[in-house]
Amino acid sequence: MKIDPWSSATYQDYARLRDEFGIEEFDDALWNDLPNPHKLLRRGIVFGHRGFQLIHDAVTNDKPWAILTGLMPSGKMHLGHKMVIDEVVYYQSLGADIFIAVADIESFATRGYTLEETKDLALNEYIQNYIALGLKPEKCHIYFQSKNEDVKDLAYLLGKKVNWSQMVATYGFNGSSNMTHIFSPLIQTGDIVHVQLEKFGGVRPVLVPVGVDQDPHIRLSRDIAQSHRLYNVTATKDDKIGVFVKVDENVNKLLDNAEKVLAKLNFTKLKRITDYKAIYIGDAEETDIQKINMELAYTEPKFGGYGFIQPSATFHRFMTGLTGGKMSSSKPDSAIFLTDTPKEAKKKIMHAKTGGAISLEEQKKEGGKPDECVVYELFLYHLIEEDKELQDIYLSCKNGERMCGNCKKYAAQLIEKMLIDLEEKRKKSRDKIKSYLA
Ligand code: TRP
Ligand code: SF4
Repeated sequence: MKIDPWSSATYQDYARLRDEFGIEEFDDALWNDLPNPHKLLRRGIVFGHRGFQLIHDAVTNDKPWAILTGLMPSGKMHLGHKMVIDEVVYYQSLGADIFIAVADIESFATRGYTLEETKDLALNEYIQNYIALGLKPEKCHIYFQSKNEDVKDLAYLLGKKVNWSQMVATYGFNGSSNMTHIFSPLIQTGDIVHVQLEKFGGVRPVLVPVGVDQDPHIRLSRDIAQSHRLYNVTATKDDKIGVFVKVDENVNKLLDNAEKVLAKLNFTKLKRITDYKAIYIGDAEETDIQKINMELAYTEPKFGGYGFIQPSATFHRFMTGLTGGKMSSSKPDSAIFLTDTPKEAKKKIMHAKTGGAISLEEQKKEGGKPDECVVYELFLYHLIEEDKELQDIYLSCKNGERMCGNCKKYAAQLIEKMLIDLEEKRKKSRDKIKSYLA
């Protein structure tokens, strides 16, 4: 199995996907002590992660961290796109530095839009909706890939440690893939790591919240970040923790520096073997690796390194389309767009595929199947804040008290509220965007 970030495949079995690709489970301990955990986190819609522990620790210890997300302008924004922004808005409330990449190069390469068209879509469709959804633009950096020299430079330079076989294995590129497309994952890596450059806030944990289709890019970025480190910290065969210098320049200085960092962390049993470019720590445990690794990363820029900490990621499920399959801009009936009128939205909901039984009688007797119902999914992902109310819906559906007709009407009512509210906020956001861009 391969995850293709440019296809519109749906995934049925997220647990299997997680295991197959070594994505970790997003279990409760990672989020339940964060302030007001967002419903997408509480409800298992964010189902997996890579390296979220770093983010958890940054939040709970009040350390700096950042969010980087990207939008690929193509078509109108729908409820599926809304999820990432809901997450970003939540993380902004926790104090993250927010960066938003407009993936105009990727959109040009893979969707056939011109840079001008993507600019228009990005500002008038996406960013406007982001602000309407609660993003505070004064407190975030929004940029276009094609205009960001740091991102593009990193893409070129970091590509040194990736070879063609890896790109073929990861993305399935072949002899007829165009070069801009082939290059776009490196640009995305540039997006993801550039926020750790000194001028953007320096080395720190960065979270990239994405749909699981983006995992190949996440893996690539994490590999690349790691391969450009000057130090490697690992457990050795004889159960010690070792710090190794990975480069051949400044080895002595780097070992001196590591000794200092380790002393500051109160490790005392240090054994330096300069020939191995190594320091072995007699009194460290495996659980100390992360802390040591981070402290060393912070110092790497002083020695000409980047010190990029491996970016963290969370993965959320896709929204099911109202007609089944994946919610997609290219199938207007499958999606509720943020700019739909309440009437349009209601019509789509009334036609949606539910988990109801064939007849009312049958449903009263056997109950409905909320787990297979897109209307329930609307409640779960977007429409209902209170977990208690959601649970009531779930149970009353299952035990046959709740019928689909009324249930859909209720969903339509809630959607109407949401769409009217968004429209109002979009109007207000227009001026904000103008002044912000000026
Ligand atoms: N590839 C992403 C998409 O298809 C867009 C994107 C570009 C992105 N750069 C990013 C997403 C950085 C996350 C982080 O939607
Ligand atoms: Fe879905 Fe509501 Fe019907 Fe249950 S009653 S199957 S939740 S539409």
